[in-house]
Amino acid sequence: MSNSARPRRRILVGVGGGIAAYKVCSVIRHFTEAGHEVRVVPTEAALRFVGAATFEALSGHPVSTDVFDDVDQVAHVRLGQGADLVVVAPATADLMARAASGRADDLLTASLLTVRCPVLFVPAMHTEMWDHPATAANVATLRAHGATVMTPASGRLTGTDSGPGRLPDPQEISLIGELLLERPDALPYDLAGVRVVISAGGTREPLDPVRFLGNHSSGKQGFALARAAAQRGATVTVVAGSTADPGDPAGVEIVRVATAEQLAVEMTKRSAESDVVIMAAAVADFRPVAVADAKIKKGQDGPAPIELTTNPDILRGLVESRMAGQIPAETVIVGFAAETGDETGGVLDHGRAKLARKGCDLLVVNAVGDGKAFGTEDNTGWLLSANGAETALPLGSKTLMSSRILDEVRALVPDGRGA
Ligand code: CTP
Repeated sequence: MSNSARPRRRILVGVGGGIAAYKVCSVIRHFTEAGHEVRVVPTEAALRFVGAATFEALSGHPVSTDVFDDVDQVAHVRLGQGADLVVVAPATADLMARAASGRADDLLTASLLTVRCPVLFVPAMHTEMWDHPATAANVATLRAHGATVMTPASGRLTGTDSGPGRLPDPQEISLIGELLLERPDALPYDLAGVRVVISAGGTREPLDPVRFLGNHSSGKQGFALARAAAQRGATVTVVAGSTADPGDPAGVEIVRVATAEQLAVEMTKRSAESDVVIMAAAVADFRPVAVADAKIKKGQDGPAPIELTTNPDILRGLVESRMAGQIPAETVIVGFAAETGDETGGVLDHGRAKLARKGCDLLVVNAVGDGKAFGTEDNTGWLLSANGAETALPLGSKTLMSSRILDEVRALVPDGRGA
């Protein structure tokens, strides 16, 4: 389903008084371009960073900060009750403290008390403020009240410092917002303390210094899983081959590899210290026997045949390592299957056979070919479990599919792991 086919929803964007307020203009633009009705409610402090005219032009509606503006329209009640989603960004330490304690001293906090829809706080502040126990307590309170509080990105902050506290990429905020519109309960904070390693993207097998054998994988599904797992509190590492995803997920460690053998080394090493292992990468089954040191020339006699050898089956290898005790027995292992179906069976038949062959706990089966799955924004398929359960994954964003996969994963993670 393309964005244009998604229903038009009402989104309230609350803007806090932080330097990252200017980045929120891109989030507002994304939502309006996706066809949503956006109302912007800045705080007084936000307007010291970005002028009201900018928010009015981007949303197409007047903005005000005070409950005493347009009193006849009872704006704080009308805006809150009418919203399908509230996004508060940047959520400063002060704004979250006021929201957590139920204050209603401006239009934004008053509106937050009247909303009944999903609320997404997107923190941005200096690392010391984010790490402060008062902020941590306020974040925990907001989560306990049912809000989603995003994990901030790590990186350069205002000034010379760097660390956790950076506003996540506007595109990522939009993706998470769209996910909460698709499924309001998509991001429970239920994976805190759970260590997840995910492979994503395609591998590249070099032929010579300029050429490689690769595939169409964009890494979008693996990154979407990483995003959703991190926002549910997990400690996430992505081992990424080639990807076309617009940005690295916030709060996720990314390890870059090129070939299947490099991917195997990283996944094997990290799986031993993980509670959940997800093989979403499109791994090349074969690689050239020899890699030429110099560029291969056309020559007089046409192309020389490329001799190939088989790559390790990483997923099967991880399951065998678990059987051999090198990976803890309770580690949950998830595979993906990209199938087209053929004369020997349909997509689901091939998926069932692959689940048995690989021996993993869950297998996500995608239909591919004809533009399906590779590089697209949406996905559909089935989730097959080693215990025989089969769940249809309805068409939706890759982030939505990720949230459903993580629900099943969460049920398999032993009690005592995570929060
Ligand atoms: N996979 C892997 N190592 C490989 C090939 C695939 O770990 N050398 C993993 C993929 O990451 C995915 C699962 O195995 O989780 C299934 O990948 P897929 O390409 O669908 O299957 P193949 O194992 O290549 O089997 P077939 O060629 O028979 O479809």
